[in-house]
Amino acid sequence: MADHAILSGKRVLLVIAGGIAAYKCLDLIRRLRERGVSVRAVLTAAGARFVTPLSVQALTENTVYQDLWSLTDESEMGHIQLSRAADLVVVAPATADLLARMAAGMADDLAATVLLATDKPVLVAPAMNVRMWLHPATQANMELLERRGVLRVGPNDGVMACNEFGPGRMAEPMEIIDAIAAHFAADKSTAHFAADKSAAPATADAAPKPLAGKRAIVTSGPTHEPIDPVRYIANRSSGKQGHAIAKALAQLGAAVTLVSGPTRLADPPGCTVVAIETAREMLAACEAALPADIAVCAAAVADWRVAGLSDRKLKKDGGGPPTLALTENPDILATLSQAGERRPALVVGFAAETGDVIAYATAKRARKGCDWIVANDVSLGTTTFGGADNTVHLIREGGVESWPTMGKDAVAARLADAIAERFRE
Ligand code: C5P
Repeated sequence: MADHAILSGKRVLLVIAGGIAAYKCLDLIRRLRERGVSVRAVLTAAGARFVTPLSVQALTENTVYQDLWSLTDESEMGHIQLSRAADLVVVAPATADLLARMAAGMADDLAATVLLATDKPVLVAPAMNVRMWLHPATQANMELLERRGVLRVGPNDGVMACNEFGPGRMAEPMEIIDAIAAHFAADKSTAHFAADKSAAPATADAAPKPLAGKRAIVTSGPTHEPIDPVRYIANRSSGKQGHAIAKALAQLGAAVTLVSGPTRLADPPGCTVVAIETAREMLAACEAALPADIAVCAAAVADWRVAGLSDRKLKKDGGGPPTLALTENPDILATLSQAGERRPALVVGFAAETGDVIAYATAKRARKGCDWIVANDVSLGTTTFGGADNTVHLIREGGVESWPTMGKDAVAARLADAIAERFRE
């Protein structure tokens, strides 16, 4: 749950663009207001086709701004003033069109103008059809915006209004609130999320980088273990948590090598990404990335691979199903933890447990020889695998810290802060 104390008294300018997910904004506004956040909204012309200005106005208890050329709005509060009278600008839903206009620096309606004129951090919650999200144009626009310091939450995987499946669903209101809270929590000590608009005094590049000069290896995603040239054994890991950690470490200035199994995620900005398929390839890529100061093993590495791999497709030949013999994969976390002189100063592992989470994870920490374990609580009916939230306990030498359920980006930001803190000691 987001921290009310962090959010209370904050001012959010909410830009609502035209997507079916706009309906979730009404709930977002309500939940923000419950937490003491004052909300002003800008509604695009397309946004007003999905939610009415009256609903937005009733929930925000504020004027809804819609028109760049409105004499009344401009006399009450000009668009430049509107863009500055907030602590954070949130764009939800952020459509492909609005992201493209933001990336291009356009100012062709009130929403785009406000986003160009603001000197405040901007958080976007993309929402669109899966093909539109995965289109290289949208991915390039998003990457450019993130390089400029724009924050992002989501999109999530799921069934879309158009009945297609994949990434493109807007993050849920509570995930957006978690991302807002995580921003304000991080903002106390650092301006590293500040958008680098030319008017902004603190640019992303000028922000404090507590991990500057440090090298980090992050593993993420599943591995695919081939059975024959066309089949493989896999698992349901989405890679969201590992990718978010890579991004968060890079934002704090670390030089990050992300070694990733097959995922549907965009490469996190500012990281060197090494794409692998098997556990053995993952280990080789990690060893090639040494020396490093930090290793975070978030990948769901397959424990087993098929022994005696067939170089020809297995056929139904009437002789019944083939027997697959399995053999153990190398343990990357344990190998890095026991790498002697080449061991990273801080090695962090993950543990997904379904009962006695802390006891099992504590034992795993000792067995693998890593410094910290992030234990995922998967026993609560959570959707840790593939979902947007995570409930974790951080197990260190000095004890256990249990964190509230939060978005994976927020977990990543908090873990990156803890790592930076560890290197400050
Ligand atoms: O033993 P278990 O799979 O539960 O351990 C989980 C932790 O170990 C995770 O950090 C995972 O990335 C890491 N791991 C690994 N190589 C393996 C298996 C697990 O790095 N072959």
